[in-house]
This record gives sequence, structure tokens and C-alpha cells, in this order.
Amino acid sequence: MFRVTQFSDMHFCTDPQAESRNTDDTWDAVFADAFGSDRPTSDLVVITGDIADNGTEAEYRKIAEKLERLPVPAVIVPGNHDRQVPFHAILPRPGVSNRRTLRVGTWLFLFADSNADGKERQPDGSLVDREDRTHAHGSFGDAEVAWMAATIEHSDADHAFVWTHHPPGAFGFFHKPDHDAEFARLVDMAPTIAGVGAGHTHTNTIHECGGRPIHQCPSLSVNLNLQEFATLPPGYRTYEFFDDGTVNSEAHLVAEDRWPSAPLPEIGRRVLTGEISYEDMKAQMAAEQGPSG
Ligand SMILES: [Fe+2]
Repeated sequence: MFRVTQFSDMHFCTDPQAESRNTDDTWDAVFADAFGSDRPTSDLVVITGDIADNGTEAEYRKIAEKLERLPVPAVIVPGNHDRQVPFHAILPRPGVSNRRTLRVGTWLFLFADSNADGKERQPDGSLVDREDRTHAHGSFGDAEVAWMAATIEHSDADHAFVWTHHPPGAFGFFHKPDHDAEFARLVDMAPTIAGVGAGHTHTNTIHECGGRPIHQCPSLSVNLNLQEFATLPPGYRTYEFFDDGTVNSEAHLVAEDRWPSAPLPEIGRRVLTGEISYEDMKAQMAAEQGPSG
């Protein structure tokens, strides 16, 4: 059996004033819980994106320092808040890898980039981050889908598991039908895919898409209870991968008085259910604040 600890949406920032929660504090608390003596030792850490909040070089240098204390090797995949050049230039080092696959027992792990919607093609054919990538939807894109299907086909692993940032089949505001459709197409081509470990939604639940369990990992920042529309404390997720293809997974929230659960404002509920857009919410909040100066 192989154990993985997943962190996601760490949103590390170099400006404490800009954070919903101080991620230096939440990292210390989550780290202590994840690697405390009463937890079984993980074989691997996977970090599924939005590791930096703004994607600046300073943030990645800070993150590289934070990740030095990890007791086991880590693999990183980017989210829509990450910027691909500093992400890949600064974070990988001994113990922290941006590798694309990992073979473990009967399992093949694929570390997939779901940021195709946040990139634009340059005249030379290269893909670069769009300026407004933080609002990009989940999309593997045809090339990533083809890469995953071919890699699984050429592997002799019995089971495959996809680690990525955006979860297909997510709720309300996060629901992107095109992403669901491309994942269903991928599962048709590669039926040994047993599930997905994702982030992005800042929730702790497991839903289904393409007939597969899609695990959502709590963030280091504010998490959401989308059944009761309330905030949740910071957290992480653990997994056990068995040779017979079974996956056990559990979300862990670090409940402390300093991070109380609170109801979301009505406007937040309306955005999350998809009743109004994010842009509508910003406009409404600006209108409520009135003209400044
Ligand atoms: Fe995200």
C-alpha cells in the first residue's frame, strides 16, 4: 500500500495584508497535523496547484523555503494562480519535482496540467500564461488528453490516477461542462483511470464525474462547505492506494478557535450556486460601496 498526503491551493503570498488567512500560520498548523506522530507516514506529497497566490518570483522563493521541511518527496502541478515560467524555474529541486508521471506498485500516477484555458498560443507555437489566467476555467486541452491516453496505453500499470488542479464535475460556480466532457472522453479512452485528486474549489468533498471519484482537497486558506454555505478551517487530504485498485481517502480540517466556521454572505452563496457571475458580484459590491473620493 502506498500513502500520499495532498496539499492544494496554498496561496502563499508575500503580502500578509492581502491574505484571507495568514498562510504562514495555516501552513505551520496543517504541517503539524499532517506529519504529527499520530499520523501514518506518507510515501509522497502531491501539491495540486495555486501554490502561489499571485505567481511572483518572490512568492516562489518563499514557497521553496517552506517546502524544504517536507519529510518525504513532493510532486507539484500548477493551478490557475501559478505562473508557469517561475513555477517551473524556481520550485523544482531535490525532493520537489515537476515530473509528469510516477509508477508506484500497480499504479501509474499522471500529473496533469488543467490550465489550457489560461494560456494563449504565440506565433512561434509556444503556450504562455494569459494575463487574466486566475479566472481561467479547468481545461486539459486536446494535447494533454492525448498525452494522458497514450501514456496510460503504453504503461503496464493496472490502474491510473490523475493529479491535477481543476476537478471535473464540480459544483455551481466551478462547474465547467467542457471540462467534464473532456474528462469523460479521456476515461472512455483510458478506462484504467480510477479517480482524480484535485483542488481549486477549496472544499473537502468527493463527487463523481465520468463514473470516477473526484477528490477535492481543502486549501491552506478559507475552505467552503457548499452544502451549508459556510467557511471551514484550513486542511489537507490523505490517500491510501492498494494494489487491487482500491483508493481510500480522507480530508482533514485543522479546526482551531482562530479559524471559526462562519456563514457565507448572501452574495457569496449566489456566486457559488452560479446564480450570478463573479463579475456581477464585483460590480454589485462596488456599487454598494459607492463612488470613492
Ligand atoms: Fe484555483
